[in-house]
Amino acid sequence: MNTTIFAHRGASKIAPENTMPAFKLAKSVGAEGLETDVQLTKDNVPVLIHDETLNRTTNGNGYIKNHTYEQLQRLDAGAWFAEKFQGTSILSLDQFLTWSKKFPLLLNIELKTNIIEYEHIESIVLEHIQRHSLQSRTIISSFNPSTIKRFSKLTSEVETALLLSQRIRDPLSYVKNSGAKALHAKYSLLTRRLVEDCRKENMPLRIYTVNRPPRIMRCYKLGCDAIFTDVPHSAIEYQQLFDH
Ligand code: G3P
Ligand code: MG
Repeated sequence: MNTTIFAHRGASKIAPENTMPAFKLAKSVGAEGLETDVQLTKDNVPVLIHDETLNRTTNGNGYIKNHTYEQLQRLDAGAWFAEKFQGTSILSLDQFLTWSKKFPLLLNIELKTNIIEYEHIESIVLEHIQRHSLQSRTIISSFNPSTIKRFSKLTSEVETALLLSQRIRDPLSYVKNSGAKALHAKYSLLTRRLVEDCRKENMPLRIYTVNRPPRIMRCYKLGCDAIFTDVPHSAIEYQQLFDH
């Protein structure tokens, strides 16, 4: 059984999501991959933050696209989660790649263009991946098929995946039409049939966000290619149980 475990926004159950402590913890518990979300600042710097606004996960307010990177550097992205993480800053994609390339980690960079279609995000992010020579172990994903279409046209060196949160009649055609090579589906869409259909087409199927043990075990039993989880430590423990 070889379901790959991606830490969703890092080990985001035990550290503030998308921050260095969350990624370091994910690595230290043995996650094979890291998932993260990218938005663009006013001056086109890719930064790791899930929401379009700063309000939930930092001490700032308003849209990321209305702030420069320099302004974001002054914010705290850890104190909202727990006092001990006070002083944690928002990461740029460049800082994240500089750190992760030192280790044999797989990376899933999600382009957050489902609400705001950041212009040129595809080429900006690709330039970063190429500069760090991380093409072969990076997956680019998005909920927005147009983003995937644009990214896939720029390069075939980086795998692309389409995210799916709703039941649709023909998910595999939806993926293929976007130019993506893999399907990243919400757990509620997971069926044995979907696993079989993806396998027949040689399309990797990765499932988000899987935190509860029975769900983790079901993904392992069905043979999903990967899961995204906020609790990589627990997913690894269950993987060891499953293997024995
Ligand atoms: O990439 C999987 C998952 O992160 C997609 O949803 O909202 O957690 O970014 P979200
Ligand atoms: Mg995400």
